[in-house]
Amino acid sequence: MSRTILLLNGPNLNLLGSREPEVYGSDTLADIVAGLREYATGMDVRLIDFQSNIEGELVDRLHEARGEVDGVVFNPGAFTHYSVALRDAVSATELPCVETHLSNTLAREEFRHTSMIAPVCIGIVAGFGPASYRIALDALLAHLG
Ligand code: DQA
Repeated sequence: MSRTILLLNGPNLNLLGSREPEVYGSDTLADIVAGLREYATGMDVRLIDFQSNIEGELVDRLHEARGEVDGVVFNPGAFTHYSVALRDAVSATELPCVETHLSNTLAREEFRHTSMIAPVCIGIVAGFGPASYRIALDALLAHLG
C-alpha cells in the first residue's frame, strides 16, 4: 500500500553542510531530502518535506499533517530538548512519529540528553548521520505494516 510521510526538520538544519561539519557531516539538507525521497519513492512512499526555524510553524505543519500523512520523521533540532509545544503538537496529531537526529545526542552535552518529544514518539534514531533519516523511515514503515 502506498504511504505518505512527512519529513519535518527544525531550527538550524537549513545550515547543514556548512554548520559544524565535524558533528553533522557535509551533506546539505537538500542532499538529505533528495536522497531520502529517492529511497522513499523506491518503496512507493511519497515524501512531503518541511523545514522551519520557527517553533510555531512546525506546530502548524504538524496540525496540517493530520489526515494528510501516515506518519512523521521529525528532527526537531534544539527544540527537542525544551519544546512542550512541539511535544503537545506531536501528541495531538495522533500520528506515529520517529524522533530523528544526525548526531548521537546522548553522547553529547548533558542538556541534549533530555527529549521533550521522545515520550510521544514510537521511537528514536540518533547518531547515524544522514542514514538516521533512512533508518527512521524504515522503522516508521515497519510500524505502519
Ligand atoms: C540535532 C541534535 C540537537 O541537539 C541539535 O540542537 C541540532 C541537531 C541532530 O540532528 O543531531 O540542531 O537534532
